[in-house]
Amino acid sequence: MPAEFGYVEDRSPGRGRLRPRAWFASSLPSIDLNGRWRFRLAAGLSELSRGFERPEFDDSGWAELEVPSCWQLAGYGEPAYTNVIYPFPVDPPRVPDANPTGEYRRRFDVPDDFPLPYAVLRFDGVDSCFAVWLNGVRLGDGKGSRLPTEFDVSGTLRHGRNVLAVRVHQWSAGSYLEDQDMWWLSGIFRPVRILARGLADFFVHADFDPATGRGTLSVQTTAPAWLSVPELGLAGADPAGPNVFEGVEPWSDERPRLYAGEIAADGERIAIRVGFRRVAVTGGVLTVNGTPILLRGVNRHEWDPRTGRTLSAGTMLADVLAMKRHNINAVRTSHYPPDPRFLDLCDRHGLWVIGECDLETHGFIAEGWRGNPSDDPAWREAYLDRAARTVERDKNHPCVIAWSLGNEAGTGTNLAAMADWIRGRDGSRLIHYEGDHENCSYADVYSRMYAGYAEVAAIGHRQEPGTADPRHDAHRRGLPFLLCEYAHAMGNGPGGLSDYQELFEAHPRVAGGFVWEWIDHGIARSAADGTAYYAYGGDFGEEVHDGNFVIDGLVFPDRAPSPGLREYAKVIEPVRISVDPRARTIGVRNLHHTRDTGYLRWRWVLEEEGVALGTGELEVPVVRAGTAGSIGWPEELSGAAGRAGRGEVWLTVSAVLGEAESWAPAGHEVAWAQERVDRRAGRARAEAGPGPRTGPGARAGSGARAESEAPAGSGTAVGRDLITVGPARFDGRSGKLTGLGGLELGGLELDGPRLELWRAPIDNDRPLVKGWRRAGLDRLHHRVLGVEPDDTGLSVRARVGAAGTGAGMDVAYRWRAEDEVAWLTVAVTPRGEWGVPLPRLGVALSLAGEDAEIEWFGLGPGEAYRDSQTAVRVGRYRRTLAELQTPYIRPQENGNRRAVRWARLTRPDGAVLSVFGDPVVDLTARPWSTAALASARHTCDLRPDGRIHLHVDAAHHGLGSASCGPPVPAWHALAAVPASFTVGLAGSP
Ligand code: GAL
Repeated sequence: MPAEFGYVEDRSPGRGRLRPRAWFASSLPSIDLNGRWRFRLAAGLSELSRGFERPEFDDSGWAELEVPSCWQLAGYGEPAYTNVIYPFPVDPPRVPDANPTGEYRRRFDVPDDFPLPYAVLRFDGVDSCFAVWLNGVRLGDGKGSRLPTEFDVSGTLRHGRNVLAVRVHQWSAGSYLEDQDMWWLSGIFRPVRILARGLADFFVHADFDPATGRGTLSVQTTAPAWLSVPELGLAGADPAGPNVFEGVEPWSDERPRLYAGEIAADGERIAIRVGFRRVAVTGGVLTVNGTPILLRGVNRHEWDPRTGRTLSAGTMLADVLAMKRHNINAVRTSHYPPDPRFLDLCDRHGLWVIGECDLETHGFIAEGWRGNPSDDPAWREAYLDRAARTVERDKNHPCVIAWSLGNEAGTGTNLAAMADWIRGRDGSRLIHYEGDHENCSYADVYSRMYAGYAEVAAIGHRQEPGTADPRHDAHRRGLPFLLCEYAHAMGNGPGGLSDYQELFEAHPRVAGGFVWEWIDHGIARSAADGTAYYAYGGDFGEEVHDGNFVIDGLVFPDRAPSPGLREYAKVIEPVRISVDPRARTIGVRNLHHTRDTGYLRWRWVLEEEGVALGTGELEVPVVRAGTAGSIGWPEELSGAAGRAGRGEVWLTVSAVLGEAESWAPAGHEVAWAQERVDRRAGRARAEAGPGPRTGPGARAGSGARAESEAPAGSGTAVGRDLITVGPARFDGRSGKLTGLGGLELGGLELDGPRLELWRAPIDNDRPLVKGWRRAGLDRLHHRVLGVEPDDTGLSVRARVGAAGTGAGMDVAYRWRAEDEVAWLTVAVTPRGEWGVPLPRLGVALSLAGEDAEIEWFGLGPGEAYRDSQTAVRVGRYRRTLAELQTPYIRPQENGNRRAVRWARLTRPDGAVLSVFGDPVVDLTARPWSTAALASARHTCDLRPDGRIHLHVDAAHHGLGSASCGPPVPAWHALAAVPASFTVGLAGSP
């Protein structure tokens, strides 16, 4: 490689750069260099434009590119996705010849009053390596994609016209340190600016002493300066102080109290926001301001489906607001420092932050970690440089409570050196690093990812097995614990969140966790016919890729909340409400860090069968953090309860914001609880059954017995081709249902109801799918053994099995009628060796139609599964068929409505099919088949097929989070064991 390109493959973090420092806004002028730049993409170093850096170079033939941007998302080259593997041969520090290189040129004018002598050129993020020329003078080069790089341009910048030329290489030695699980994208992807430089740097130390309420403020500055914080009576003080204030309000996620201040230095004013707080490990417990904190966190990558890792201010704010509105209180900036504006938002709205360094070398795992840069002294400078740039940039943010050395970079002396350096520079925060969890030799917290319940419980009890190296055991055993990643939110899921939350709340040592991850990194694309969809790994012709493993967020790529986010919000609500129907009390447990419940307003709604009986406000005395309280039902509530009939009566109590917060309007619901309060509560299962129904559709039809040739009263009529049982008509030979209450279920095409065990595999089913397919669950055949009508109904016996396997199910379908409802009891007996749990247990049926409206009484309005059903409430809901679908980016099982007592499906032509539970069923309705859902790769592959496909289920296998994590625990698994369930059906044309 020619010497002029030596920087690309050397391990040096860069040359000619200024020392790292804080990112802040000053009153001195600056010049925004964002916007249209001239751009050319070369395929490799041998195809670069000679002399492109010279001001007079003719770039008139070049295209224009928006800066900041990722060039692959602006029409140059293609994105590529890999999780662990490097998309190039592992031969550090060398990179492929095919090294796409962007040549950027920008002309700009500097006004005559701009102070040239102290000018700095700042890049907030360039992926992955670049060299810079201003007015033909080479300023230097840099690596460290998600870290700022500054160059001194005091000698090169001039008034009037200037020309900036930047060469950006997709691959560099730095790429070996940036193997995060995400899209490989390149370019100047964060803003570029020229700043007049005054004060080089400052470090705000704002300690809070919880014992005395005293705040101590000391600001280290690199040059003489004056500090003012008017609210604290500080004016023109020596920043170093220490300035002591009695009775300050500390900063926390719940009350992000910031004191506005100013640093004045030599004609410059710098606005600062001071948040007083103290992070400590006390008795092995993570505390802030003297009180333990429980992190209800998410891992956040920066993502926009159109612009990739270039985010607008609006997108960052949208993330913060959505997190706050869903009770999230912490963010791990996985796996690199975010756009610095994001941390301003965390300071302002209140989110605890683990600030992670831009470092991951996971691909070396394929080599058994041989040659891992983390343990190679040749890379030491690069590691220390990254640590310093992370800490220096973000050190003044009160939201940051821990520095993370990076992610999945193995172990080694360079990581230890980073930790040492950080400790020396900033003793006020903890050091996090998960990759050394076997010893935790350089971290202040014991961090794991995807540990199962048993392991978390053991650690909670400080009963975990010893460290790999016994010398570290006492240290690790004394550390607080957190899950820096858990609950893999890939596709439908995660399930099992509340089981984790219980452990987090039970063990003081456990400081909570961070769900993996915030957002699906889907890329917005359109199919040939214009239908929009989101692309994932493998959609861009990548040689190696990891498919849709990049689609694992709590929000969809367009930031719409997924059912998983709603579930998480409910599981982690900071106030837990309970209702005791017998004692007629409402209990409130305040799980906040320090905030009392005074900011909440309380409401109740009482409903019978989903219809309101009454609603009102509740007077709940203020409950202090960490304590509980309770009140009796107000009179209006008891009165409303007294007016209830014989239906199910549910009381819902919610806590909403009394006044607007910075992150949500007044009235926003923070927490809620729902309890059945009628006298029959708790006895529902015993009492329910095919008795009188209160739902629509019940006792509505005239009954089909008129057709019957059978003696009156038996309900069963038997002909050669036709059997009727009350309102239901069956094919006499196959025992198939052909009609119901005058509703032709698609005539001869009718397929069901019959046993269904299959679901369109969800991502979290990954470890099971092979076994499921081997068992043939997706290709079961029914063989009818007998069709046996009798006086009270019809029995159809069948054997269900798949080609090539002896395992199967014996199924007994038993039909009987009660007025217009045909009741089907399905009893299954497994035969042979199953060896796998069942995806689902229920019946499937379909009827002609493309659209329908479904009304139901049960849990809703969203989808729910057995291990993800805290966010749904009992009520009466109405949705169209289309609205019942959750558009997971890779299509998969979705849309289940749980604990449905009754549902009524109405087609546009007025035909009605009613479904009843005994007492409840799960219900899924969709305009395409499970097979189509299972084989679709993208949402645009799914087209209504002219039928309405219904699944009426007794049970599902849990969702879990086994796409990356432990298997679904036994208590959420669906075993192949003898079982029976009952479903009611009624129809009217
Ligand atoms: C973790 C890793 C994340 C992500 C996740 C799976 O091991 O730290 O970056 O890859 O697994 O989605």
